[in-house]
Amino acid sequence: MLTRAHFRRLYKYQYMLDHDTNGHCHRVGQLMRCFARQLGFPEQDCLVAYILGYVHDCGKYHVPDAILRKGGPLNDAEFDVVKLHPILGAEIVFSTTGSRELANVIAAHHERLDGSGYPYGFGERQILPLSRMLSICDSFEAMTAQRPYRAPMTASVAVAELQRCSDIQFDAMLVELFVRRVLPVWEQDGLLEVVND
Ligand SMILES: [Fe+2]
Repeated sequence: MLTRAHFRRLYKYQYMLDHDTNGHCHRVGQLMRCFARQLGFPEQDCLVAYILGYVHDCGKYHVPDAILRKGGPLNDAEFDVVKLHPILGAEIVFSTTGSRELANVIAAHHERLDGSGYPYGFGERQILPLSRMLSICDSFEAMTAQRPYRAPMTASVAVAELQRCSDIQFDAMLVELFVRRVLPVWEQDGLLEVVND
């Protein structure tokens, strides 16, 4: 079981990341909790979903700053290092919580249903439901957030992108639930404005 004590220990890895990454992870955590609630998860599992969302990029703690904060595009060697962060994050989660299942959720957050993701190139049957949820929340937040190098997408453009990539990158049924059940609550709670901060 993932507890608040585990979260406090994981938080130190997250805290070391830069402000943009931290804000992104906080909002992914909020989206994950909202998603879990809309799917009817028990409250304890909603907390787990929040924590997994919040710490999903903790493996970046081990990626050199020169790569993480590089202004321009990454070269292939640099991107190969970045592609290790799900595995590094999974090891942090495993060493902190002792849960291989939770670690596996983090390890697969950049996998895609068509097998073109990283680090393993998992196929559809190997990607856990929480990893699929995480992939949707992570991508939606990244698309709608302000970044120094590009303007944010509107929520409707980001939704169209999630739908376009359904069954290729994302789980189509979960995208549909995310759009129909999660985003209305997100918007109603005024959290979309936070996303666009
Ligand atoms: Fe990531």
